[in-house]
Amino acid sequence: MDMFTQPFMQLCNISYRYALTSAPVLQHLDLEVSDERIGLIGPNGSGKTTLFQIMVGLLSPESGQIFFEGQEMRREKDFRLLRRQVGFLFQSADDQLFSPTVLEDVAFGPLNLGCSPEEAQGIATQTLKELGLDGFEERITHRLSGGEKKLVALATILAMKPRLLLLDEPTNNLDPATRDRLTDILLGLPQAQIIISHDWDFLARTTSHLYTLEHGHLHRCDHNHIHSHQHIHRYGEYPHQHSD
Ligand SMILES: Nc1ncnc2c1ncn2[C@@H]1O[C@H](COP(=O)(O)OP(=O)(O)OP(=O)(O)O)[C@@H](O)[C@H]1O
Ligand SMILES: [Mg+2]
Repeated sequence: MDMFTQPFMQLCNISYRYALTSAPVLQHLDLEVSDERIGLIGPNGSGKTTLFQIMVGLLSPESGQIFFEGQEMRREKDFRLLRRQVGFLFQSADDQLFSPTVLEDVAFGPLNLGCSPEEAQGIATQTLKELGLDGFEERITHRLSGGEKKLVALATILAMKPRLLLLDEPTNNLDPATRDRLTDILLGLPQAQIIISHDWDFLARTTSHLYTLEHGHLHRCDHNHIHSHQHIHRYGEYPHQHSD
């Protein structure tokens, strides 16, 4: 990287714990995000979702700095602007969807960004179409299936045309055909992405770099050498590398 290009987002020395008396979840963690697709894998409870929440300012780190387009994010006001450009797909779609109908949910973001109701509806209709969800406009959000909710939740984010997507376990609840459809959708998107998943086959198809999160630290792995299989050592359940 030359001196004129800076990472889109940068995390420096981030530490976090939920309570003063509890163990740290993240410890002196660094991450740079440019125009790339990053996979993030790690055991349950290792802090992956916590990391995303810190990146968009839903949680404040105990220490460390977050830079967005070179500017340090300090206050809620800074993060409000960041969240216009960083779309966060929650681990649970139920936490993301709140409007009565699908169209209202997907139009909410563009409306919030200042679009007129007509423009917002137009963007929402188009986004649903691009995700193969035409005909879903008037469906009642809370009656959708788990997989349908996940795709509608993705639509609510894409409708805001963010520059970076943070996708927290996007393949949860998806059947193999829908997972394949989602894979194609993600590969067709222009945005930088960070994808949390336990499905390393999916990550191998959708991302170019892979990090594992364990004991509060990020470790970069080489996709080509990653594999998962039954193993005598405890890392067998997770993608890992052998030195020989
Ligand atoms: N609101 C909270 N209060 C206290 N502890 C929490 C809270 N949220 C999460 N934790 C704890 O912090 C740790 C990290 O949680 P986090 O949800 O970030 O993990 P994760 O890597 O996303 O796990 P999973 O793969 O199960 O989604 C876990 O031990 C969890 O129990
Ligand atoms: Mg999680």
